[in-house]
Amino acid sequence: MNGHNAIAIDGPSGAGKSSLARRAAAHFGYIYVDTGAIYRCVGLAAHRAGINTRDAEAVKEILPALDIRMVYNEAGEQRMILDEEDVSADIRLPEISLCASNVSAHAVVRAYLLEMQRKMAREHDVIMDGRDIGTIVLPDAELKIFLTASAEARAQRRLLELQSKGIESSFDEVLKDIELRDYQDTHRTEAPLRRAEDAVLLDTTEIGFDESFELLCRTIEERLGLKA
Ligand code: DC
Repeated sequence: MNGHNAIAIDGPSGAGKSSLARRAAAHFGYIYVDTGAIYRCVGLAAHRAGINTRDAEAVKEILPALDIRMVYNEAGEQRMILDEEDVSADIRLPEISLCASNVSAHAVVRAYLLEMQRKMAREHDVIMDGRDIGTIVLPDAELKIFLTASAEARAQRRLLELQSKGIESSFDEVLKDIELRDYQDTHRTEAPLRRAEDAVLLDTTEIGFDESFELLCRTIEERLGLKA
């Protein structure tokens, strides 16, 4: 519509959205936009400020002073800058995941971050992942994908990812966290996670990363007539 293509990928946490979307973006020469990282910045800022992340009024108060920027380094990686500090690693800490889920339930936070996301899609060809990209942020996206997998499969993958970063956790802990976030993300009143009617469903429970990537690329090529 604005001369740029947008591919929206939504789905629950741990479905492999970000790894798959990042690789597909590199493959097709698109910019990868991880919108969860923006919510994570707000969650981190609220956590650092010592406020209750479930309290919409308290979170609202810190928003105007926040300076959140999404920048891309030479390798094309998205880095998150919060008040001049690169917080790309800190926002991934397990305790920040729940803070991010909590703040993302507040309408005021969603409204505050909406324009930042739409601006990226106006200015670039994007593969954008999140929870409400196909339904709210980019309802006119050229292609919408709903990427999912069973909670157990997602927990197993997340556990391996945390272990590879040296972060201690157990399968039960990770599964509990995933189930809690699934519940919160799908039951909130503001922009709950749901599949857009026109989204293609990709379920990766039974398939590994490489096969999921091939499936995603095939879907993009077929639907958009794109070739890498
Ligand atoms: O994708 P993620 O796990 O990094 O996202 C962190 C939290 O942010 C997640 O619990 C849901 C929320 N989120 C959202 O509400 N809308 C988005 N577009 C992206 C993430």
